[in-house]
Amino acid sequence: MSTILVLIGIIVTLLYYAARHRHNYWNRRGIPHDVPRFPKGNIADWQTKRQLGVIFRDYYLKYKNRNAPFAGFYFFFTKTVVVTDMELVKRVLIKDFSNFENRGIFHNEDDDPLSATLFSIEGQKWRQLRHKLTPTFTSGKMKNMLPIVLKVAEEMAKIFKEKVSTSQVVEVTDLVGRYTADVIGNCAFGLDCNSLRDPDADFVRMGKRAVSERRYRGILDFFIFGFPKLARRMHLKITVEEVEEFYIRIIRDTIKYRLRTEEKRNDFMDMLIELYQKQQAGNTAEGLTFEELAAQAFIFFVAGFETSSTTMGFALYELALHQDIQNKLRAEINEVLSMQNNEYTYDNVKAMKYLEQVVMETLRKYPVLPHLTRKTISDYSPGDPKHYIEKNTAVVIPALGIHYDPDIYPEPEKFKPERFTEAEIAARPACSWLPFGDGPRNCIGSRFGMLQTSVGLAHLIRDFKFSVSPQTQIPMKWITKNILLSAENGIYLNVERVSK
Ligand code: HEM
Repeated sequence: MSTILVLIGIIVTLLYYAARHRHNYWNRRGIPHDVPRFPKGNIADWQTKRQLGVIFRDYYLKYKNRNAPFAGFYFFFTKTVVVTDMELVKRVLIKDFSNFENRGIFHNEDDDPLSATLFSIEGQKWRQLRHKLTPTFTSGKMKNMLPIVLKVAEEMAKIFKEKVSTSQVVEVTDLVGRYTADVIGNCAFGLDCNSLRDPDADFVRMGKRAVSERRYRGILDFFIFGFPKLARRMHLKITVEEVEEFYIRIIRDTIKYRLRTEEKRNDFMDMLIELYQKQQAGNTAEGLTFEELAAQAFIFFVAGFETSSTTMGFALYELALHQDIQNKLRAEINEVLSMQNNEYTYDNVKAMKYLEQVVMETLRKYPVLPHLTRKTISDYSPGDPKHYIEKNTAVVIPALGIHYDPDIYPEPEKFKPERFTEAEIAARPACSWLPFGDGPRNCIGSRFGMLQTSVGLAHLIRDFKFSVSPQTQIPMKWITKNILLSAENGIYLNVERVSK
């Protein structure tokens, strides 16, 4: 018994010293950093007091302009670099991308096929898949999908009209969330899921679970997060079983139906099926297997539905606080549409320049994914050899911090769409607007995200006036445990019909 106790004592002591040694890494290297706490390192506030992107924002603002291009950080025991210098941001995302092409997040193609998405896979596999999928997102393809987006946007405006006979307080994030779910459901899965009419539609229920639930909770989830490679070797999964079964079934049925009927819809699914057919014909270099197709349809939904709807919610919130901007925007929408028979086309949505500025400024103040992540492939020295970044170090680009840097965006708390005129954009440093990331691993769906957000907003602002109500939370607070930015208690606004 006493031998076992001694052994346990030795193991605990060894683990304690290993942990202390790890938490002393940045200190040994003389890199500026906050003192870590056991066991969480520098994320003690995460989930209880501050959202993760906010922690990185505060870190960036604290450590920029020190004598190093980055600050040291510990995510539990994972050594992490938080970049604080714009030149290094550009190098990581663009110039020296080949050393930073992976995110280092979990994926397990064999046991959990839906986890092997474009967002998570690495190296040669990622490069090949990105190359195959890029033609799916050209502006020509976006044009073809516009009719689907417009049909759903019109339905959303109709539902707002039914809800708001005179003037009423509405929680807007739920409604716009159902709009983007229907748009992506149509475009990525070919489903008329109609969650706008049926808020409990399985498709959306499962979509919400896909975003918010993990297969395992607690310590095992942190383990997968912290040790993705080991977790894969242990055959662990992240996708919830029912979610996996549901989406695989829908995708299988859709493919069967489209191949049998030869129906073409010009949507993401058509393009994925074309790649699947190439694979079936033996062209493995260009084609996709069924599992690969399923994972991409799934990530298009997961990455494209909440990001765009949350952005729409934030835009409506700012427009409610700034009636002058809202009026100017409505005037532009009416003016552009009146020149085209009151019809939306791809070109006249593009012609709504002020609308684009409003969306861009919304994404500046509220970059839904507030920090970007990369992992170093080999040791990297950005200049001074003292500031090398070791192989396998996690690298964080604090997008929210850069967006709130007063040297880049004076008075960053203010909502000013004028920041996004062509001249103003050109006057700022590269990589200073990062809601879609930057470089070869940026958001592949950014055009589509901008399109569905802009079309949805245009339909709402044209017909309704949004203003704050006593229920509106000002200033807005974040849900601290979510990775994406989202408002703590939803967004309640007063909505009334615009008289024409
Ligand atoms: C307003 C809407 C959106 C926002 C704010 C957004 C934001 C982002 C961000 C910040 C990244 C990481 C970029 C980086 O690390 O440099 C990303 C990646 C990605 N997004 Fe989006 N996104 C949006 C819409 C969409 C849509 C509509 C789709 C698909 C239909 C999509 C699919 C993806 C995929 C597949 C990736 C991974 C790309 C890769 O690793 O190669 N996103 N997105």
